[in-house]
Amino acid sequence: MNLCIVGTGYVGLVSAACFAEMGNDVCCVDINPSIVENLRQGIIHIYEPGLEELVRRNTSEGRLKFTTNIAEGMENALFVFITVGTPPKEDGSCDLSYVYQVARDIGAGMRDYKIIVDKSTVPVGTADKVRALVNEELGNRGEHIEFDVVSNPEFLKEGDAINDFFKPDRVVVGTDNVRTAELLKALYAPYARSRDKLIVMGVRSAEMTKYAANCMLATKISFINEIANVCELVGADVREVRVGIGSDHRIGYQFIYPGIGYGGSCFPKDVKALIDTARQYGYEPGVLASVDDANARQKHVLSRKIEEYFAVRGGVAGKTLALWGLAFKANTDDVRDASAFEMIRDLTDKGMKIRAFDPVAGPNTQRHFAENDLLAVVDEQYAALDGADALAVVTEWNQFRNPDFPRIEKALAEPVVFDGRNLYSPELMAALNFVYYCIGRPDPK
Ligand code: UDX
Repeated sequence: MNLCIVGTGYVGLVSAACFAEMGNDVCCVDINPSIVENLRQGIIHIYEPGLEELVRRNTSEGRLKFTTNIAEGMENALFVFITVGTPPKEDGSCDLSYVYQVARDIGAGMRDYKIIVDKSTVPVGTADKVRALVNEELGNRGEHIEFDVVSNPEFLKEGDAINDFFKPDRVVVGTDNVRTAELLKALYAPYARSRDKLIVMGVRSAEMTKYAANCMLATKISFINEIANVCELVGADVREVRVGIGSDHRIGYQFIYPGIGYGGSCFPKDVKALIDTARQYGYEPGVLASVDDANARQKHVLSRKIEEYFAVRGGVAGKTLALWGLAFKANTDDVRDASAFEMIRDLTDKGMKIRAFDPVAGPNTQRHFAENDLLAVVDEQYAALDGADALAVVTEWNQFRNPDFPRIEKALAEPVVFDGRNLYSPELMAALNFVYYCIGRPDPK
């Protein structure tokens, strides 16, 4: 089939490469000429395991093309996917200006019937707005061309996006048009092999499904973080509690790992956006507002522990913290809403120096904190420990799971480790003579 994908961010580029891999002809459109030029040469601007290879192969085999010209990109396409960003605005609502601009560009460049697919995460009602904008542009040109607008939200996880695309739990298609639904079923048939995996529903339900899914997952995380905070106070161990509750199949083990709050491009933004939508309709979403508040507070839990530890040792000012992990989670260079950043702000505001290392997110961090003299980003894991008073680990990269503990102990002024991901066992850390702070287990006396 012939596809046009507008926007080459995580969702757009992963979808494009994975559609091309199954034999579809895909043309990607991006307004940024240097991104397009690089993509033509197989150089990708985001870090996603396996993506570069997939892009290169499909480009060299002629199934994947790139252009800055949307009319050219759409020319042969039956499906036009909108996969541009919907960043949060100051007030928590979604900035839809990119989506609306693409809708106008589609209307301006369309020559024949198209199925326009909203894949960006957009508030309920956006498909109607896209339809209106395309019609407006067609009207301006005095044209009458048939088209459909479908909602097809994306459920990819960064770092595992290709696997998620090839083996989805489900594919949600929102449309009232039976023929369009059949065409999308055919497009997704190689991925959602079991028919039950392709769920067709109304457009607004599909738009809502994306938010409901992410908000449910965010709720699980804020819930377990709250349980972890109480565990610390009452002398319980959240690891044991997690296993105890997860064994109930109605609860399940997944997505109840406590930490220092969720980050990334989706959960923080989507929870806020659904709160905003509900309020626009006059409803106060108490649960979601608490999920969001609890997450904002959780991002300071580890810096508070660090400050408390150093309070009786002259304070954090002038001390140095080695920080392992900057990305909002492992296997990505994405630092959007990364909890590590809140920690860096908390501690450098109090005068603490930070030597940070991340396997891939260093450059993005340097760009973000260009003005912060107290932060040094180093390019080797153990170099972060040079001259450090303590170590904090905040991203669960595999290379942090079994580190050289004697080397850490030797490098640090004090053998103290603050673990925001519960990567180590308190028993092992005690045996190695580390003072060990983590999440959801009582702090050392
Ligand atoms: C998420 C959804 O999982 C995906 O379906 C959707 O399409 C986009 O949003 P992503 O943001 O890539 O994907 O990351 P995810 O792996 O879900 O993690 C989100 C955040 O939650 C991370 O900060 C992670 O560290 C945190 N998290 C996750 C926890 O703190 N505890 C958990 O148990 C799981």
